Amino acid sequence: MDEPVVLVEETGDIATVRINRPGALNALDEATLIALRDAFRALAQSSVRAIILAGSGDRAFAAGADIKAMRDYGPDEGRAFALLGQEATHAVEATPQPTIAAVRGFALGGGCELALACDLRIAAADAVFGQPEVSLGIPPGWGGTQRLPRLVGPERAKDLILTGRRVRADEALRIGLVGRVVPAETLMDEARAVALAIAANAPRAVIAAKRAINRAVEGEMVSGLAFEADMFAAAFGTADQREGMTAFVERRTPRFEGR
Ligand code: COA
Repeated sequence: MDEPVVLVEETGDIATVRINRPGALNALDEATLIALRDAFRALAQSSVRAIILAGSGDRAFAAGADIKAMRDYGPDEGRAFALLGQEATHAVEATPQPTIAAVRGFALGGGCELALACDLRIAAADAVFGQPEVSLGIPPGWGGTQRLPRLVGPERAKDLILTGRRVRADEALRIGLVGRVVPAETLMDEARAVALAIAANAPRAVIAAKRAINRAVEGEMVSGLAFEADMFAAAFGTADQREGMTAFVERRTPRFEGR
């Protein structure tokens, strides 16, 4: 039988959710997004007090949306994929219990957006973040245009999103993309220690505090995400989107023509 694409483990008050496609660097296809969304919706109803989100294997948190799966999408499928990715990231963000992204290796594109939807981010020293979508012919579509500027400010968000460049853990710490950097071997222990510190506090007070912090940007987030989904959908079926994603599959540099 195939391994589940998302693994959930509960130990005491803490749940750990793992994206489990290590052979594809935990790339996020439709089935994985649905499993993630449903795992967080189920945990929202549970008695766990904090949730850690991590990748399987030692190479990636998640290397983004599954490029092979979306290469042949048109605008309608692109919109559906944007909305599903936004549902999954929203399920993470809206979970009453605090969420901690424990990032080893690549957190690119949708992987970075998933980490952005968590309340806290802890990076292993080998972590690499980035929003490389424009190098594939599309804009970010799962909240990156909305959550990244809110976290690191518009200057740094535009630097990352418009150049598509990757940043290593030390720069991610400097610009406020992550809260702390730890040796890769201790990543999960550190994440658990933070989760336990949260779990030791009054659960209702923790949930109330998280809700109040999220409330500050909730209204604007809804319209920003809807606009982002429109932009994402419109990119699908363009010559540049086909070229960008085909070039990834063929392991070559894309030739963009602006159409
Ligand atoms: N979608 C689908 N498959 C992906 C993927 C993605 N986003 N990222 C990695 N993979 C797959 C590769 O195709 C490869 O599969 P294969 O062995 O069947 O060919 C496998 O994962 C390992 O990746 P590979 O590219 O061989 O590893 P690498 O060490 O040379 O490079 C990365 C690692 C992360 C730099 C590179 O995989 C990459 O650039 N991935 C895409 C990142 C991205 O642009 N994400 C945003 C998408 S919107």
